[in-house]
Amino acid sequence: FFTGLSGAGKSTMAGIIRTKLIEDGQRPVTLLDGDVVRQNLTSQLGFSRADRDLNIRRIGFAANEISKNGGVAICAFIAPYRAIRREIRGLIEQHGVFIEIYLSTPLAVCEERDPKGLYAKARAGEILQFTGISDPYESPEHAELVIDTSKATLTQACQQILDYLIGRGLIAVSG
Ligand code: ADX
Repeated sequence: FFTGLSGAGKSTMAGIIRTKLIEDGQRPVTLLDGDVVRQNLTSQLGFSRADRDLNIRRIGFAANEISKNGGVAICAFIAPYRAIRREIRGLIEQHGVFIEIYLSTPLAVCEERDPKGLYAKARAGEILQFTGISDPYESPEHAELVIDTSKATLTQACQQILDYLIGRGLIAVSG
């Protein structure tokens, strides 16, 4: 479960890890990415705390079904609230393994990247309740991995995740 600000690198990293896990070939892999899920599955939800929590709760349900049936669900969501992240961890850990990867890329870097131009809009007041600007992000306190994508290359950051998975005996591939 990747969590972090918009622009922290969640979708990029999740996509690379997806490819690596498919190469590993042990389990079917499903990627649940915030923008895609919001377009297709939870399009009626907004960005209030209640709606964000409902978004994550639904994803947690889907991920739990996938993992209970022997698959891997890679999730990439801002998921700004600690309580809901803890809730879905509790759900998944009843049957499987939950790995929280906090992309701790600083706000200034995410804002500088601004891949979708949303930070500029948020600063201009055109988007309200924008995470990091006008809405909170509660950093994880017990993430399995913390990675600042402004300090490591993409390859290094992905290798850190793969090494962790190998160390836990969850995958066999090495890079
Ligand atoms: S979450 O808070 O419910 O976990 P999620 O990861 O699904 O968020 O969606 C975040 C994506 O929605 C961002 O990458 C961005 O493209 C878009 N977005 C639109 N409005 C907002 C907002 N107010 N705050 C954060 N992201 C927003």
